[in-house]
Amino acid sequence: MNIANRGVRQLADSSRKITLEQGGLVEHYPTPKTDTTPLRLPLASQYWPEAVHEELARQHWSKASITSQIDLEAWQGFLKDLPRDPYVNTRWKRMSWLHLNDQHEVETLGECPMAQGGKFNDAASMADRLRYYAPLEESFTEREDVRAFVKAWADMWGIGPREPILMQITGVRGDGTIDPLQGQGIHADGCKYLSILVLNRENVSGAINTLYQDKAGKELLTTTELAPGEVLHIHDDQLFHSVSSITQENAGEHFERFIIIINCSFIDEFQNRMLRRHFPDAVLNDCE
Ligand SMILES: [Fe+2]
Repeated sequence: MNIANRGVRQLADSSRKITLEQGGLVEHYPTPKTDTTPLRLPLASQYWPEAVHEELARQHWSKASITSQIDLEAWQGFLKDLPRDPYVNTRWKRMSWLHLNDQHEVETLGECPMAQGGKFNDAASMADRLRYYAPLEESFTEREDVRAFVKAWADMWGIGPREPILMQITGVRGDGTIDPLQGQGIHADGCKYLSILVLNRENVSGAINTLYQDKAGKELLTTTELAPGEVLHIHDDQLFHSVSSITQENAGEHFERFIIIINCSFIDEFQNRMLRRHFPDAVLNDCE
């Protein structure tokens, strides 16, 4: 059993106090489709509206909807088997490293831990630690619309072959009020390119994304609430971001918000050291 699985097992044993038992969630979600329902996928070059490219160049962020490019309901089906995050409370997560190969196809890489230096992550439970998570399910990463999304995302930023891309499914569920960032506050993720895609938000208020020019939060750039299927693209090395607390709207009813975070081209030396160790042939943004 590897470290990630061991952590998940330990956590599963100590997770009884959460209101919603994992087993109770099974009926809540659609079953992930194993057949490949044909989607009309746009060419990578036409995936994003022209405004996205223009806004990224002008203001370092842009918001778009991809509900017509993905089978969102099928993606939501992968939420029910997420393991709990072994490092923080009330969060569930899987993550995998991907890249484009020399033929420009999406491939899944092996294990490499998340490694965020304290410069980029203020949360005591996460900063300067190696964090191991269960990988994304193969039935998810093999989906045609997932691969099309990753490819179009990489093309949008100009990410080349063998540059490691981190893709996470993560989110919170429970009751009361939860800080989805678990103490990170206004922060950056230590990379150049980052996008946040909301998969679902059920029975929640809050979770408002805010972008700032500075880490102290004095220069606010925008606030936005992302609906399921909406994605916020950020030049992570140019801006700082936060998300407000999530509050259960109706007590006693199911409450959760899950997102996909995808990022690449790390400026965090700690993460790059780990990437170099685990993926010796990777193309990294070693700017130090
Ligand atoms: Fe972040």
